[in-house]
Amino acid sequence: MIERVRHDGVLVVGGGLAGLSAALPCAPRPTLVLSAEPLGGGASSAWAQGGIAAAVGAEDSPALHARDTVAAGAGLIDADRALALTELGPGVVERLSALGVRFDRDETRYHLSLEAAHSRPRVVRVGGDGAGCAILAAVGAAALAAPHIQVRTGFHARALLQDAAGRVRGILADQAGRPVEITASATILATGGLGGLYAVTTNPRALRGDGLAMAALAGAAVLDPEFVQFHPTAIDLGLDPAPLATEALRGEGAVLIDGAGRPIMPGVHPDGDLAPRDVVARALHGAVADGRGAFLDARRAIGSRFPAAYPAVFAACMSAGLDPRAEPIPVAPAAHFHMGGIEIDADGRTSLAGLFAAGECAAAGVHGANRLASNSLLEAAGFGAATGQAAATEADPGASALPLSSSPELPEADVQRLRAAMTRHAGVVRDAPGLRRLLTAIDELDARHPDALPLVAARMIAESALAREESRGAHHRLDFPARAEPAQHSRLFLPYRAAIAA
Ligand code: SIN
Repeated sequence: MIERVRHDGVLVVGGGLAGLSAALPCAPRPTLVLSAEPLGGGASSAWAQGGIAAAVGAEDSPALHARDTVAAGAGLIDADRALALTELGPGVVERLSALGVRFDRDETRYHLSLEAAHSRPRVVRVGGDGAGCAILAAVGAAALAAPHIQVRTGFHARALLQDAAGRVRGILADQAGRPVEITASATILATGGLGGLYAVTTNPRALRGDGLAMAALAGAAVLDPEFVQFHPTAIDLGLDPAPLATEALRGEGAVLIDGAGRPIMPGVHPDGDLAPRDVVARALHGAVADGRGAFLDARRAIGSRFPAAYPAVFAACMSAGLDPRAEPIPVAPAAHFHMGGIEIDADGRTSLAGLFAAGECAAAGVHGANRLASNSLLEAAGFGAATGQAAATEADPGASALPLSSSPELPEADVQRLRAAMTRHAGVVRDAPGLRRLLTAIDELDARHPDALPLVAARMIAESALAREESRGAHHRLDFPARAEPAQHSRLFLPYRAAIAA
């Protein structure tokens, strides 16, 4: 028996930074936030260590920040959108401070971290490596206190609802095994990324591109799904997900070495340990693959300051039995951020009427082939708020028949098969034979679980990676090592299939 809820207002699917940032400015429209887990749980943004990239330093400007963003994106960034994003930076930091986030600073200035591919220290942090957790706590508290917002947890979105004209009218969700159909004036997907499709990830494992797949199945345009960013320094101590060792450690002088203690990055890139993330990820992938091993040596640069300066990294290492003050940290690249996603315009509108997207599941044109470090919290908070404002202006189009289709669950054993195949064949380096093997594995799983959401998302990555016969940013083809010019986006539309009844 389906429970039916009619919500005359905005529906936000996802309780991470993008979803909550979208919900807050919807006032006075009633706004329903659905989250799979209690606020702060299950969201990658809560795990972010680095902080928010924002041009708040004396020697900095949004134009310089935008220039670095465009350079990192390897030809696939919309320069106007990048500037629009970086111009939001100082205001976002101010707004979050007003909500109670205590960014690291002294009386006159913020403490700014240097991260890869930034031309100057620019990352505003909290408690060293605790920015995501502190920001989510403040924004979550504001959302819970806001009279126009209702937060409901324990909901897993399964499919979008569409009317006969294709307009998105809400979602079909699952709450403790019971189907719930929720209609709304506007629906914002803020469902996060898809690191959970990979065997090694820094993201919460449940993030497997479900929102992206639901939107694609409903016919929304998807942009550049093959671009998955691998963070070079996930802590390789056998944990799943793998804890992160923030890039800020390298910004303070920590060095990447192999098992024999030799520095890895000299000779690979002029920026050495702070080379763009994709370059460092490939170098470390190579070092692990050829048996040299990869380690982050922070003994000299951080040493005894570790517990106070980077408490999250320190705790992760110590809980796995490694003291980073005394030993180098074993590291390996891990799926970290999806640059591609549901294509959106400057207001967060997707190609489907009634559907908006924000945060990592969306592609706003600001990450291109390689996201600049710490731009994602800025995007989630800044563009997320703009999306909420636009969605709040949508009027309720009234009730009508609502065809829907719901995808099957992928059993855990098959999730693990998929994750292993994705890491092996659609990981840091790729080639045509591997990507074809991956597509065969996806076909086999899909025959048993047709259109299971993780399979839909994985197939879009694999097919676009196979079609992109070049290497650009985070997409590196062993069989096509050069860039192809001019730079081109991948844009996918899956067959429209709104009329399948449950
Ligand atoms: C890091 O702190 O190294 C990660 C920052 C990010 O991915 O933006």
